Amino acid sequence: MIKKIADSTTEVTYLVLPNDTNPLGFLRGGVLMEWMDIASEITAQKHAHCVALTVAIDTVKFKSTVKSGDTVYIKSQLTRAFNTSMEIYVQVWASSLPQMEIRKTNEAFFTFVAIRDDGTPMKIPSVDPANEEEQLLYDAALERRNKKIEQASHSYETNDV
Ligand SMILES: CC(C)(COP(=O)(O)OP(=O)(O)OC[C@H]1O[C@@H](n2cnc3c(N)ncnc32)[C@H](O)[C@@H]1OP(=O)(O)O)[C@@H](O)C(=O)NCCC(=O)NCCS
Repeated sequence: MIKKIADSTTEVTYLVLPNDTNPLGFLRGGVLMEWMDIASEITAQKHAHCVALTVAIDTVKFKSTVKSGDTVYIKSQLTRAFNTSMEIYVQVWASSLPQMEIRKTNEAFFTFVAIRDDGTPMKIPSVDPANEEEQLLYDAALERRNKKIEQASHSYETNDV
């Protein structure tokens, strides 16, 4: 079965509140990572139609600060589905009062594995890139996946995580 990337693409919006920030009023990285993880989990579950677990997060970039009162927009989209795993590209933008101009602040690649009720990995549908941007992300996903698996095998061999 082959599905469209657009069918599982997810967009969520948050308002940054004081509880999400450090003492200087800037959004904490861990809070943003949780929001990105939730958005990508929704994408994974829309695609796989089952529970999906995060197995890897890579190349997280924090380009600019986000402050209390800002609005945060998160978009998560599949780049490629493999056998039981799928890579999801998460992008984050923010806007501040009073201009509300939107600036890109973060991006990352998350890998999820679809699992059955007994916790074992489950086969998922493939995806079909619909345009040049989706095709570029799809093509590059294979190299990223190979690197992640290579790195994970080294760290688990030595018991480092
Ligand atoms: C998800 C989990 C059940 C997979 O079990 P597993 O024994 O690693 O299964 P496999 O080795 O068959 O790997 C499953 C898939 O994940 C991929 N994978 C595993 N580790 C990966 C990594 N670090 N990066 C990218 N892909 C990875 C494998 O390549 C495989 O992909 P494929 O089926 O598409 O070819 C297991 O790793 C797990 O429970 N991890 C903890 C997940 C979790 O708790 N997440 C929350 C974060 S705290």
